[in-house]
Amino acid sequence: MRFLPILLLYLHHGAALKVATSLAWIEHTPQPYAIKNFYKGSSSATLTSGGVANLGTDKSFDLAANAETQGLKQYASHRKIRLIYIVCEVAYRIVADRSKGIKSLADLKGKKIGSIKGTSAAIFVEKMMRNVGVKEGEYTVVNVCMKTPCASNTLPSQLKSGAIDAFGVWEPAVELGAQTLGPNAVIFQNASIYREVYALYSTTEALDDPKRRKDIVEFVRALNKTLDVFANEPKKAGVYDFVAKEVGMDASVVEAVWDDHKWSGRWDDKELLDFLVEEDTYLAQVDKRTPVPRKELQNFLDTSVLDEL
Ligand SMILES: *[C@@H]1O[C@H](CO)[C@@H](O)[C@H](O)[C@H]1NC(C)=O
Ligand SMILES: *[C@@H]1O[C@H](CO)[C@@H](O)[C@H](O)[C@H]1NC(C)=O
Repeated sequence: MRFLPILLLYLHHGAALKVATSLAWIEHTPQPYAIKNFYKGSSSATLTSGGVANLGTDKSFDLAANAETQGLKQYASHRKIRLIYIVCEVAYRIVADRSKGIKSLADLKGKKIGSIKGTSAAIFVEKMMRNVGVKEGEYTVVNVCMKTPCASNTLPSQLKSGAIDAFGVWEPAVELGAQTLGPNAVIFQNASIYREVYALYSTTEALDDPKRRKDIVEFVRALNKTLDVFANEPKKAGVYDFVAKEVGMDASVVEAVWDDHKWSGRWDDKELLDFLVEEDTYLAQVDKRTPVPRKELQNFLDTSVLDEL
């Protein structure tokens, strides 16, 4: 039995870095690319289907990736979560059907807009509509299916059949909707009103543990190398094919939506904090809780890993 502690120590040392992330979307793909091409941690890194919610409930996770909306929702009740890196920023798009008499965003008043309640997609639609003076309740949000398998009468055929007049979600659904509508497609996009901030999160417990932290820093280093490839030579490096295979899309669709994705890394502190404070105020209303004070949202943003690279 006296060998047991040594064995446990060994096992702990060899523990794989555990990352919770949605495996279905383009935004997540720098992670498998980084693991395959650049990651040099003490052991392997594994991606598990999930997201930032896992960090709140399962201490064995070192990292998670999700849009800022899920990050804020979790931070409201789990103040040990930290946003440590921005993988990707995406200016979402709304696609609408011109044959329904829609020329401008304001024309969506009284219409049915497909989206996914409780996610960044719904936040996006609300902000876009508010910006043109159309309030929540002056249009109908219809939940659309974005998980597989969906029934055959879901996106994008909901748009083609006229069951919905428009929809606003993440890519490539909007691209596929636009292709379905052909010349009748009208696209609305405005990154200054809303962009998805798809980020990497950790916890103070993981970051304060020197062994885990070392691997986390290595992972972010590998991600940073990946973003350089994704941003600057996607075609040459075969990234469209890699991404298409990871998420089960056609490479041509990945390429068509590529420019809507900004591979960011570091952020501008003041700008991001303002953005998060505003979104959290809205989420707090929806979720019937008090907003997280600005000072605590500041603690949510942790650049220390980036500073260590
Ligand atoms: C985006 O929204 C901002 C703020 O309302 C506005 O000033 C700008 O003109 C819009 N840009 C586009 C391309 O519509
Ligand atoms: C991340 O990568 C970029 C582009 O390769 C590089 O300029 C930057 O210095 C890197 N950031 C850090 C913190 O190492």
